[in-house]
Amino acid sequence: MFSKTTLFAALLATAVSVVARPQDVWDPTITSPTAGVRWLPGDTHNITWDTSNAPADISEGSQVVLAKGGVLDSANPLAQGFDLRAGFVPVTIPVDTIAGDDYAIVLFGDSGNLSPTFTIL
Ligand SMILES: *[C@@H]1O[C@H](CO)[C@@H](O)[C@H](O)[C@H]1NC(C)=O
Repeated sequence: MFSKTTLFAALLATAVSVVARPQDVWDPTITSPTAGVRWLPGDTHNITWDTSNAPADISEGSQVVLAKGGVLDSANPLAQGFDLRAGFVPVTIPVDTIAGDDYAIVLFGDSGNLSPTFTIL
């Protein structure tokens, strides 16, 4: 028979092993946009990322968010709910986007990933 203490320790060990699965935290590298590209408001471009090391278990909470000067426009994601395994999602730069050379794309899945800085004309 297990003592209560042994049983508790076994349950705790199970809980810890379920929570701590670092191999499931996937950090895909964004391959487009690349540094310094120039995009126009109203243009549609693919955001692309490396899927070569995608885990079997993938987060459902996919989102692409535009950031300017490191500030995320989280209220207006450019795309969401797409399949992270596809490796790309088309986004349209909103026509009212102000010009700047300090834009970046943040790709959210298991964690957030930042693209290189690019320009919107
Ligand atoms: C995005 O990539 C897909 C797959 O390669 C392609 O079919 C599609 O035309 C691309 N869209 C744009 C806007 O480049």
